[in-house]
This record gives sequence, structure tokens and C-alpha cells, in this order.
Amino acid sequence: MRDNPQSGSSNLTRRAFLQTTGGTAAAAVIAGYSTSGQSASPAEIAAGPKIEGAVPITLRINGKDRQLRVDPRTTLLDCIRETVALTGTKKGCDHGQCGACTVHVNGRRVNSCLSLALMHDGEEITTIEGLGTPDALHPMQAAFVACDGYQCGYCTSGQIMSAVALLKEPCGPDDADVKELMSGNICRCGAYANIVAAIQQVRKNP
Ligand code: FES
Repeated sequence: MRDNPQSGSSNLTRRAFLQTTGGTAAAAVIAGYSTSGQSASPAEIAAGPKIEGAVPITLRINGKDRQLRVDPRTTLLDCIRETVALTGTKKGCDHGQCGACTVHVNGRRVNSCLSLALMHDGEEITTIEGLGTPDALHPMQAAFVACDGYQCGYCTSGQIMSAVALLKEPCGPDDADVKELMSGNICRCGAYANIVAAIQQVRKNP
């Protein structure tokens, strides 16, 4: 169906309607406001969603205790991103296939999209925000920068969290060994050679 440029608002086409409403929603997201016009305060976010059946849990995230109320069906990934508002951890596939959502639970890497937040009550969670700071990068973050281990950057936080966990896991010395242990982290830009180089740099200069 073609849009008729002569048509007025009374003849609003489906395409024009979608363009208008889509643009409004996008502007609201960029501005950090909900489409209802209300901005959520940090206290409201920390309080969690006001839904029936929400349960209280405490997650120690990046060294800080977070007392939360979550729907028992909430994944750890959604809890970190939506409830705690730490958005460095990314949602890629949401099916355990890409590794973008990798965080550490009690020092071990997990795909947070496959784990319920409720299962980690009282546990220690580390996200990319807890690894280093812009002024004091973790050695793995610095190595990714030095080796150009990222392109679009979307998978990078998951790659780095996996790489840091790998340092404490049994792993042979060769690039092939690193590739095997990093095989759960997908990079659609194909920066694999540089990612392996970054990890090997840190392994060889601990
Ligand atoms: S978002 Fe969790 S593995 Fe892809």
C-alpha cells in the first residue's frame, strides 16, 4: 500500500501511524523516561517491580549488598539490568547461546540469562562494572584495548568476564586451548584473533 502525500490526518495511513508512535517511543527511551512520562527513581528501581508474588532476596553485587524484591521467574540477567540498572551486562540471544550475558557468581562464570535471580540469594555476583574503572582498568580490560579485542563492543563485557574467569580455570598454554574455553562467547564482528591475543597477553604477564 502506498502512502498518499495529499492525505490529511483523518486519512492517516498505517505506515505513518507506526512511524509516529515508533519515533515517540524511541525518543522516550533515549531520554531515559518511560512512555508514561514518569522517570523511575533509583529507590523505585531498587524496590523492584510491584507485582504479586515478588520475593525478597539479597544479592551481593560488585561488593555491595542489594536488597531486592523480584518475581521468582526473573532471570539473573534481567534482575541485573532491569532491577539493579547495571546495563554493562548485555542480552544477546537470551537462550544461553552467545555468552553476552556472562557474569561471575561466586567467582565462576555463568550465563545469567539461563539462571534465576532467586537461585542466587546471598551469593556474590560480579559484573563488568565491578571489574575495573575507567581510570584503573582490570588487566584484561586493558589487554582488550591494547589488542583491539572488540569492534562493535556489544559482546565485549561478556568476553571479558569469561576471559577473567578463564584465568582461574584449567587451560592449556596454546591459542587453541583458549579458543576452546572461550567457545561459548560469540563475536559477530569476528574479532576472535584479537580476543585470543588479549587473553594470552594477560596469561603470559599475570
Ligand atoms: S544472552 Fe545469555 S547466552 Fe546469549
